[in-house]
Amino acid sequence: MLKGNFPVEKFASLKTPFYYYDMGLLARTLDELRAQLSRYPDYRMHYAVKANFNPEILKQIAAAGLGADCVSGGEVQAALDAGFAPESIVFAGVGKADWEINLALDAGIGRFNVESLPELEVLDSLAAAKGVKASISLRVNPNIGAHTHANITTGLAENKFGINYDILEDVIRRALELNNVVFRGLHFHIGSQILEMDDFIALCNRVNELSERLSRHGLPVGDINVGGGLGIQYQHPNHFPIADFATYFATFKKHLAVKPGTPVHFELGRSIVAPCGSLICRVLYVKQGTSRQFAIVDGSMTELIRPALYKAYHRIENISSNEPEEVYDVVGPVCESSDVFLKAAEIDKCHRGDFIAIRSAGAYGEAMASRYNLHQLPEAYYDWRR
Ligand code: LLP
Repeated sequence: MLKGNFPVEKFASLKTPFYYYDMGLLARTLDELRAQLSRYPDYRMHYAVKANFNPEILKQIAAAGLGADCVSGGEVQAALDAGFAPESIVFAGVGKADWEINLALDAGIGRFNVESLPELEVLDSLAAAKGVKASISLRVNPNIGAHTHANITTGLAENKFGINYDILEDVIRRALELNNVVFRGLHFHIGSQILEMDDFIALCNRVNELSERLSRHGLPVGDINVGGGLGIQYQHPNHFPIADFATYFATFKKHLAVKPGTPVHFELGRSIVAPCGSLICRVLYVKQGTSRQFAIVDGSMTELIRPALYKAYHRIENISSNEPEEVYDVVGPVCESSDVFLKAAEIDKCHRGDFIAIRSAGAYGEAMASRYNLHQLPEAYYDWRR
């Protein structure tokens, strides 16, 4: 079986489970991303910190010159600590608390992505109290369903995100009246792990329609933030280690109608960091069930919850063995039936102590880890080979 290039000999002394980060791959991904971005001078990338806020990862991404997309005061602080320029930080979220808004105002972040009229009023009054003006985009709910898992589609009218399409004009008018917010643009996001460019084309068409409508009514549009959502090839991490940024940007270039010189903002998370991370576990026991064979590993849904929460697929490799493949349900030790990484996984024959790599876990892996069952939070191993 084709496997990733892991320095297994270095793993012997490490406590499992841990997150392995291929920092060389992250660097190559950032090089490719920058090369693609350089073709579009108006495009600005803000890395979605929620995907992975590991400080080393954040530092690499900040050093590459990207901005940050944050959804909490904690993330704004982490982005600042990692060296992201304050003016490159955008701050979204349907429920920003006063302390979070104040922290972001004090830091002088670039943009608040405002998600409701009451939030707009609160932001204005908190900015007034400090005698500053907050730059804002209004997050619009575009009512577009992306072809992805129901829990990670965000752009439908029934979702809690963004300002309803029908009242947008009133909210813009209100923003223009207020003294301590400056209306600068519109923000959208339709979902995550999107591989069909048609979904992004639908978003572009919606944005174009809306911009025309606003212009017709004599209202400003400002710049456009199209959110994140580009997916990766979970099935084939060894064949497609870097996401297809070229096609993604070309799609927006072709379909999004903006005046030359208008900034277009992007907030990719998963596609930047997912491929560089793997959860490394050890096999504890191989157990024969009545009809199935289980590989019980020491990692679980507490380190990587995506399979349990979304039935998400992550490729699994036995990186210790080179024996013929067998079929296993790869499961963790947590007392929940959903603590299964993959059913009927075909992997090289497992023995107690073998290292197992759960691939493409760099996004929404470590970031979503919990201490359920009083597990320790996982540590990280950084592989700096280029
Ligand atoms: N911008 C906004 C407003 C978002 O809500 C998100 C993700 C992003 C950008 C980044 O999206 P990305 O490029 O990573 O797809 N935990 C789930 C994914 C949740 C995504 C939430 N929002 C998972 O593990 O699949």
